[in-house]
Amino acid sequence: MPRNRSVVAKVGERLLRHGPADNWRLLRRKLTSDNGAANTIAPALMANPRAVVEFLRWKASQLSSRVVLVGAGREAEMLAEALTLAGARHDLIAEWPLGPGARGSLPPEADVVVCPWPATPEDWREVARLRASLPNRVLTFQEMVLPLGVVEEGRKHIEYRFPDLAEVVRHYTGAVEMGPMEALNEVCPIAGLRVIEFGPMEGYQTASLVNLGAASVTCIEARAENALKTLAAKAALGWRNVDVVIDDFHNVGRANYGKFDLAFAHGVYYHSFAPFVFFENLFSLADRIFFGGYVATDDFPDSDFLELESQGRRYAAKLHGDGYGMDQGINPTGYYFGREDLYRLFRDHGFTIVPLSNEEQTPGQPPGRYLRFLASRASSGGRNVSIEQAEASA
Ligand SMILES: C[S@@+](CC[C@H](N)C(=O)[O-])C[C@H]1O[C@@H](n2cnc3c(N)ncnc32)[C@H](O)[C@@H]1O
Repeated sequence: MPRNRSVVAKVGERLLRHGPADNWRLLRRKLTSDNGAANTIAPALMANPRAVVEFLRWKASQLSSRVVLVGAGREAEMLAEALTLAGARHDLIAEWPLGPGARGSLPPEADVVVCPWPATPEDWREVARLRASLPNRVLTFQEMVLPLGVVEEGRKHIEYRFPDLAEVVRHYTGAVEMGPMEALNEVCPIAGLRVIEFGPMEGYQTASLVNLGAASVTCIEARAENALKTLAAKAALGWRNVDVVIDDFHNVGRANYGKFDLAFAHGVYYHSFAPFVFFENLFSLADRIFFGGYVATDDFPDSDFLELESQGRRYAAKLHGDGYGMDQGINPTGYYFGREDLYRLFRDHGFTIVPLSNEEQTPGQPPGRYLRFLASRASSGGRNVSIEQAEASA
């Protein structure tokens, strides 16, 4: 058989015998095997430099105010950019591995980051020598960026709200907030609070709660894909005080979860097919509730208001289809309450309300209104003002 035909036959036979993932692994091995210094997972991570720099900017806030970068190259440039963005002083020693002279001259108060990905046994021995001479002061660039890989990998398998990794990272680091988190923090300082959050989805507001100093955040998420994304964020950002509990919020009340300082329910109530079960659970969990959600208007959704009854009182709401997307409920219907009826439901359960925003819909969203407010049980010290007074001052 001519040489070309035998190569084609061999490739064809391999393609038939092995799956795509195995063939892709073989191809990558062939393409990189000449380079003994290659790291096999660095290229995927380093392919998103904006995301890496933003992640490093956030990591830099955990370093001391003086940082020495060791080893010139792309990693050192990215870390230097991140440190500049974080306003941290940094110096570069381009040499790597360091000789004994350079090792001995490192400032003792600085954090030292080895920038090139260690690629030889000698690189790792030099990292160990550095650590021995500067205990608790030496990090590798590699260990700083590897955790981001969990989110980067997650994005390949699960749909994220933002397709751009850098935008995802900006939401986790607090460079961008989702919803009026600062406004919430003004009326209800988050630092030190034990919070229960319904439906974190990708954990962007979980991030804000952690970044604002919550003592703990218990996330209740029923959808596996969203629980995985929030777990990936917890691993990447090192959130030790966040618990991701996989449960249906209809099953979550004070009787089985206990009491919290703040219940956080943003973008979730209208995914309940049993809204009074949802609300009674929510009301039982805390004396302060941050609440956000779409409400029904005459035009939205395009159906008639229904009268829903609870404890002898009636509330106007509209039914809508739900249940099949990553940002939806797990039952095929939900209800949007009318705005005034939603407020009245909270008042009927002893809450006073401080509105935080009352926005018209953003383009591409249903033309209802999105309300966000803090509800406080009067006995917990919430200000007793009328909705109209509070909205006028919001
Ligand atoms: C519209 S998203 C809101 C995400 C986030 N809270 C926000 O406002 O940006 C709804 C979230 O609630 C979750 N969810 C829906 N029904 C749920 C249920 N019955 N129990 C727990 N989580 C649920 C969804 O999986 C999703 O994470």
